[in-house]
Amino acid sequence: MKNTEKTNLAERNPVEDIDQIVRRHNVNRGATIPILQDIQNTFGYVATEALTRVSDLTGISESELYSIVTFYSQFRLQPSGKNIIRVCHGTACHLAGADKITESVMHETGAKAGETSEDGLFTVEKVACLGCCSLAPVVTVNDETLARVTPDKARALVIESRDAEKEKTGCKGECQHGKPAV
Ligand code: FES
Repeated sequence: MKNTEKTNLAERNPVEDIDQIVRRHNVNRGATIPILQDIQNTFGYVATEALTRVSDLTGISESELYSIVTFYSQFRLQPSGKNIIRVCHGTACHLAGADKITESVMHETGAKAGETSEDGLFTVEKVACLGCCSLAPVVTVNDETLARVTPDKARALVIESRDAEKEKTGCKGECQHGKPAV
């Protein structure tokens, strides 16, 4: 299972990157969503600091930008976890028990849908049809698609991923972001 690549604001020159993105869209108010999409593609999420900078450059109020980011589920205000678990909630998967799968994943990770677990290992998302309805219910973990998932299988995959991470980091107990606790 490949982990997602994340680049957080602290690792880049965020102001320069954001300025370039906004300039690319000609500081155009009509390009608000593409600007926010580019920011998310660049950093993996849309930080509140990024909203402030976009607001300064475009004149769009921070509260308006914030309401766009919170309205569309494609946007994330926090960095994503190392593993992104997407549970399909399209019609076929819904009928095949997607709700119970999501509940199971949320329970095991401790993260609600749209959020990241405290240990930074999992982001849980509810998504629309993934285009492979004959395999319903479907879950993807990063770039891997899992077919006919049950709540128990979903729970097991979270536990396996967590155990694999502990093994990789040598963590024997409480971990934060894969690093041994101090
Ligand atoms: S409804 Fe889930 S893959 Fe289509």
